[in-house]
Amino acid sequence: SWHILFALLFGYALGSVPFALITSKLFGLPDPRTFGSKNPGATNVLRTGHKGAALLTLIGDAGKGAAAVLIAQAATQSPTLAAAAGLGAFLGHVFSYFLRFQGGKGVATALGVLLAIQPLLGLIAALIWLTVAVVSRYSSLAALIAALLTPPLAWLLNRTPAEVALVTVLAAILIARHHQNIRNLLQGTESKIGVKAATAS
Ligand code: G3P
Repeated sequence: SWHILFALLFGYALGSVPFALITSKLFGLPDPRTFGSKNPGATNVLRTGHKGAALLTLIGDAGKGAAAVLIAQAATQSPTLAAAAGLGAFLGHVFSYFLRFQGGKGVATALGVLLAIQPLLGLIAALIWLTVAVVSRYSSLAALIAALLTPPLAWLLNRTPAEVALVTVLAAILIARHHQNIRNLLQGTESKIGVKAATAS
């Protein structure tokens, strides 16, 4: 129905706001699309060495995903429409209206969506990410493993079919967006967390 479309569009508008670019501007850092992985995300902002800007990017990009779900849920009381808004926010981040339909890889925004759908689900996904990140020092590998485990986890936690479908679609798109990272990981050329990138400015 048109409610679904409206929830998707609402989420998409929120998700399109690129916090990596906003925080980088705010702190006078170079555009994250010009160095490192060229990805407008928290991991790449961290390659400037500015931890605060990276943290704010993470909070902003996760926050918009969570906000989309929570606002839709509060406005409609419908878990399905809330899930649609979450999907919209994720798609907004990855195919941003403000970046000519380009964007990020969706890790932080997916985490925000998960946390809003079920805090326990989001928390476990975050812990999986953290564990792999601490052990491997690869942000991308952590996201890929968390993404693979999240759909079965959502199912185990008795989420609704619409929510399990949402989480599965988010994981699939997230993994597809990491194709270059997967190539780098296999070739041993992926950059580790804490390694700064050469920037123009
Ligand atoms: O935040 C996305 C992360 O999984 C990979 O980012 O910049 O290393 O491609 P990046």
